[in-house]
Amino acid sequence: MNCCRSQLCEGTNRFFSRWSKRYAKDFRKKGPDKIQTMILRGVGSDGSSFRHILDIGCGVGSLHLTLLTQGAQRATGIEVSIGMLEEARKLSIEFGVKDRVEYVAEDFVQVADTVDRADITLLDKVVCCYDNPKALLAASLGKTTGVYALSHPREHILIKLTFKLQIFINRLLRTSFHPYWHDWGVLRGMILSSGFALRYEDASFVWRVLVFERTPGR
Ligand SMILES: C[S@@+](CC[C@H](N)C(=O)[O-])C[C@H]1O[C@@H](n2cnc3c(N)ncnc32)[C@H](O)[C@@H]1O
Repeated sequence: MNCCRSQLCEGTNRFFSRWSKRYAKDFRKKGPDKIQTMILRGVGSDGSSFRHILDIGCGVGSLHLTLLTQGAQRATGIEVSIGMLEEARKLSIEFGVKDRVEYVAEDFVQVADTVDRADITLLDKVVCCYDNPKALLAASLGKTTGVYALSHPREHILIKLTFKLQIFINRLLRTSFHPYWHDWGVLRGMILSSGFALRYEDASFVWRVLVFERTPGR
């Protein structure tokens, strides 16, 4: 089934579906990657405190599957890539959590209204794959009652140039997908002004990890 309503979305589906088996193989072999390990540290290692995880652009499910095995109650994984979701479903069976996870093959922004609120929302390496980051953040922040964790490319000149070069090459070759370079400071400001406070920050050479928490009463 193809969920995509736009060409951009279809390009993202095709691109990431091609990589899905590789993502699943890596997760089976090595567990959460370096950035996911930082996110898990930032949200607190005990998944049992979470009742509903919203994992947007969940890939093969590395983050929510890890938290479900630690005792989180249930998760919703939303993905544009059909291939990624096929692998996530298989992994949820292998991990013995398939009855506690629901997968939605859609662009999150298009279906946000139909998604339950969550006490933790995850957006790992997703915002740089989407053309309208403000819509993605507004819709996901509105669904989050507790922890909001995301990773995005670091604001380093070398990383920016690498991304811009990649975007240029992909456009030149007319590939079905290209990444996006957004104003990360503006997006961070948007999260803070939506009633969230930063509680954890870490970075690798390429990625920045930010974990926020909704301020009580906001
Ligand atoms: C770089 S991959 C990261 C996957 C996973 N979070 C991880 O870190 O392994 C980005 C994923 O986000 C998905 N994606 C991008 N924008 C999306 C949106 N608006 N709704 C749902 N999925 C989206 C893409 O299909 C892709 O699989």
